Order: sequence, then structure tokens, then C-alpha cells
Amino acid sequence: MNKIVVEGGVPISGEITVQGAKNAVLPILAATVLTDSCSIIHNCPRLRDVEKTVQILTDLGCNIKRCGGDIEVDASGMKDCGIDERLMREMRSSIIFLGAILSRCGAAEVGMPGGCPIGLRPIDLHLKALRKMGASICEDHGYLKCECSRLKGCSIHLDFPSVGATENVMLAAVRADGETHITNAAREPEIIDLAGFLNKMGARIRGAGSSMVTIEGVPLLHGAEYAVMPDRIVAETYLIAAMMTGGELVLRAAVPSHMQAVISALAEMGGRIEKSHSGLCIKCHRRPGSIHIIKTMPYPGFPTDAQSPFMALASIADGTSVFVENIFENRFRHVDELVRMGADIKVEGRSAVVRGVRSLCGANVCAEELRGGAALVLAAMAAEGRTEITGTEFIDRGYEDIEGTLSRCGIKIKRVIN
Ligand code: UD1
Repeated sequence: MNKIVVEGGVPISGEITVQGAKNAVLPILAATVLTDSCSIIHNCPRLRDVEKTVQILTDLGCNIKRCGGDIEVDASGMKDCGIDERLMREMRSSIIFLGAILSRCGAAEVGMPGGCPIGLRPIDLHLKALRKMGASICEDHGYLKCECSRLKGCSIHLDFPSVGATENVMLAAVRADGETHITNAAREPEIIDLAGFLNKMGARIRGAGSSMVTIEGVPLLHGAEYAVMPDRIVAETYLIAAMMTGGELVLRAAVPSHMQAVISALAEMGGRIEKSHSGLCIKCHRRPGSIHIIKTMPYPGFPTDAQSPFMALASIADGTSVFVENIFENRFRHVDELVRMGADIKVEGRSAVVRGVRSLCGANVCAEELRGGAALVLAAMAAEGRTEITGTEFIDRGYEDIEGTLSRCGIKIKRVIN
């Protein structure tokens, strides 16, 4: 079994260039099928989820060339409109292909995405919106079969500002007949990034990043070249690493305006964060203080993806912190493992009360999902002694070479492959 092994107690120090954003690159790669020409995407992180997305594109008949962080997608040979059930199960977010394939081919057949460790993650909002645009969708033997010779623009109100549903509608609407108006749209920076790429392809999208997005359908899109935004959640994870190890870090390419909720919480806990010419600098040379309450919310509120890394931080803070998880119902799976390392955390429904302890101790723990896995790496860095973390495949879904990145900053971390 592969594991990440960490000897804790070393302050982090150095510079990290923030990788491209996983949650932006996936919809952008899906968007490349909207044209029958070539697109080049720069700053793609080397992640398992990106590999899976490339696999989907290849299965659809696209020709892919890769060079470092650049992925060139030639979608001229796209001949298939289906995604295998196995790939859908492995990467739930591949549902984002639905709107794009439907728009390009007039039909799409994708495996039903299964449940997920962090919650049920229904796709009712995606399907309701696509039906409103004229798609007929039926479920058949674990597959979603969708058809629509020509999607029609319309007004779509999302009952919840779902990131995936907003992206799916944008992908479906860019080549639809007429205008689509999304109200209560998600406002995440990744939505702005997707709109940036689509507009470079010739789409007409206004208002991305606000809760009202307007998409004027155009008959054809062309290929485009685009650089993916930096990953705000990865940047936040490394800021927390500096807080937890009493270290100093410079993050290159981080975008502070994308991280305001987290930066202000870190400042409240005693972190000194400054923007300089070399990047975003963080220092914390004392035990972090607790934080009154963290409630996860849609952007620009506190991101659910930073909840578990933050809980690792709160577990060694001076005082008691309260967490309320409002986005995913099952996102406290890291708690038992943190407790195994000596944390004092009580969960009641969607809330957790964390009483900070002076120090954690190394243990054998298991990551059960991506961000919870990152929380365990953070806890291990701050703990006394050695921690072995299994379930590394979850961490690899979102963090590019986490052990290389951290060891270059002085952390005693290595991967053991069995
Ligand atoms: C995206 C991110 C994920 C992040 C999440 C919230 C990607 C690949 N993933 O996930 O990392 O944690 O945003 O910021 O970008 N919901 C419904 N019906 C739907 C769709 C969503 O009820 O049809 C609910 C979900 O169950 C959840 C909430 O809405 O409770 C938010 O989900 P959503 O914003 O859609 O998250 P994802 O796009 O799946």
C-alpha cells in the first residue's frame, strides 16, 4: 500500500509556485469539445483527475498532445458522445461533460455519477436546467441518455448556486439558439475562468462571477489558447502549513482576492500575511489562536474545500473553534483520524467543536477523500514524531507532487511505494 510518511515538527520555509486550479482545468478541458478545431491549455496541473479527463477526451475521439503543463486538444475527430460508467464513477465531476457533449453532438450518454465520500451530490439542478433548454433526458441501466438537436436559450434559476450546474449550463448555452440567463449562479473564480476561456473561443458570456450570468448563443466556436488560474485551495492549504508549523512561506502566483475568507480567518488566528513583489508571504511564529466560528458557504463565503485543512489548524490552536459545514453533508470524515493523532473534536450533525491541544502526535492514519487527506498531511507536519498516511490516491487527485513541494520547503516528507 502506498503511503506518505512525515516526520513532524519542522517549520516550513521557502517558496512555492501555486499549481493550476483543478476545479478550473476540468470544465475548461470539457469545453474544448465545443469546437472542431484545436485548443491549447496552459498551466494544467499534473493530477489524477486531469489524467482521467484526458482519458475521457481520448475516448471521445479527441487527439491529445501533452508537454509539461500544456495540453493540446484537437477535437476535430470527435466521434463518440458517450462517457463510460467506470470513468464517471471514478471522477464524479465528469458530469461537466454533459452540457458540452450535448451541445456539440446533439446527444450525450454518460454513466450516472455514483455517491461520493463527502455526500450524495445529486445532479438534479444540472438536469432540470438542461431539460429547460429543450433536452430530453432519461435514465437507463445506470446511464443518462440525453438528446436535443438544438438547445434553446432560456431563463434558468438555480435553487442553489451550484458550481457544477452553473458550468454545465454555460457549456450547453454557448452554442444554443438565443440567450440564456442564469440567476442565482455560482460566483466562484473558476466560473470566471471558464467564461474567460469560452469567450476566447468566440462565446458571448457576460456577468460571470456575479449571480446573474447571460450567455448569448453563437452558431460556432473556434479553438483558443488559455492559461488556467492558480489553485486557490492548494494555496490556502500551504498558507495553513505555515501557520501550523510556525514557519514562513512565499506563495508565487497566488491570487489573494480569490482567498479573502481564508486570509481573514488566518489573520484572526495570528498569521501575518502580506502581498509583496515576490508573491503572498505568510509568517506565524507563535501558537495560532482559535477562531470563533467557521461556516462554509458558497463563494465568496468560506470554502467547504478549506474546511478540513482549517480544522487541522484549529486542532492545535489556543482555544476552542466551531465549524459548521453547510455545503456537503458528510465532510467530517477526517475528524476520526485527527482524533487518532490527539485532536479534541466533537461532531454533532453538521457542526464540530474543536478544542485546541498543545500538540498532536504522529500516528498511522488514512485519507478517505481529497481535502481531508490534505488535512492529515498538515496535522502530520505539526505533530510530534512520525505519521504514516495511506489513501494517498485521494490526495493525488488535487495536489501536484505534494511530497516534492513540501520537502523542498524543509518538511521531512516522503512517499513510500509498495
Ligand atoms: C465544486 C467543486 C468542489 C467544491 C464545490 C463547492 C469541482 C470539480 N468541484 O463541486 O471541489 O467543494 O464545488 O464549492 O469544481 N447540489 C444539488 N443538486 C445539484 C448540484 C448540487 O443539490 O444538481 C448541491 C450539492 O449536493 C451540494 C451543493 O449543491 O450540497 C454544492 O454543490 P456544487 O456547487 O454543485 O459542487 P460541485 O460543482 O459538485
